[in-house]
Amino acid sequence: MEFAELVMKRRTVRRFEDTPVEREVLEKIARLAQHVPSAGFSQGQRVLIVTDPQMRRKVAELCGESFYVEAGMGPWISECAAQFIPCVSRDIYLRRYHEPDKLAPGEEPNDDWPTPYWWIDIGKTSMVLMLAAHDAGLAAGFAGPQEIEPLRELLGIPQEFHPVGVIPVGRQLPDVRSPSLKRGWIPFEEFAHWERW
Ligand SMILES: Cc1cc2nc3c(=O)[nH]c(=O)nc-3n(C[C@H](O)[C@H](O)[C@H](O)COP(=O)(O)O)c2cc1C
Repeated sequence: MEFAELVMKRRTVRRFEDTPVEREVLEKIARLAQHVPSAGFSQGQRVLIVTDPQMRRKVAELCGESFYVEAGMGPWISECAAQFIPCVSRDIYLRRYHEPDKLAPGEEPNDDWPTPYWWIDIGKTSMVLMLAAHDAGLAAGFAGPQEIEPLRELLGIPQEFHPVGVIPVGRQLPDVRSPSLKRGWIPFEEFAHWERW
């Protein structure tokens, strides 16, 4: 699909067939999501791919799936082909920026960053992942986990990694659109500023 069309047509989907997708297709999505820029080429991003149906249900529970089911949206977090869980480690970034090429002579490392780039970079990973799913003829949603620690425990995610979300990927079914969409897009002129704000 042409890039502009891919960007304009992608949307957050909240209902999928509960059918498997070939491992190679899922792997291609993950491989594309790896190829995003990262501050200092730290590469603190990781992705965990959950296909096991029982595990998917447990993950969905931790994302409050019952709330969506009660709202009539169906079990869109558990029923899919795979859940992609982007995780990021702040420690990897800090360690990278303690390396000599990131410090001026005699400079002490400062871990208080004006902008925590790890959040930016995992956002990029997530976006490429969702676009890659769409490009593969699939669809993707995004659910925020309610609590991080139980998700870490359930999936054996190391303590230094923060799972930022759960992205169900699968073959799209008709879904209930998010009420948030009623807000509409802000005008482009409010989004983009030229030369000076
Ligand atoms: C950081 C982030 C968190 C989100 N969390 C949720 C969520 O917990 N549940 C949900 O249904 N949608 C969630 N969404 C999806 C947004 O509601 C959706 O992206 C937005 O309404 C725009 O719709 P679109 O993606 O179809 O363009 C999240 C999106 C982002 C970027």
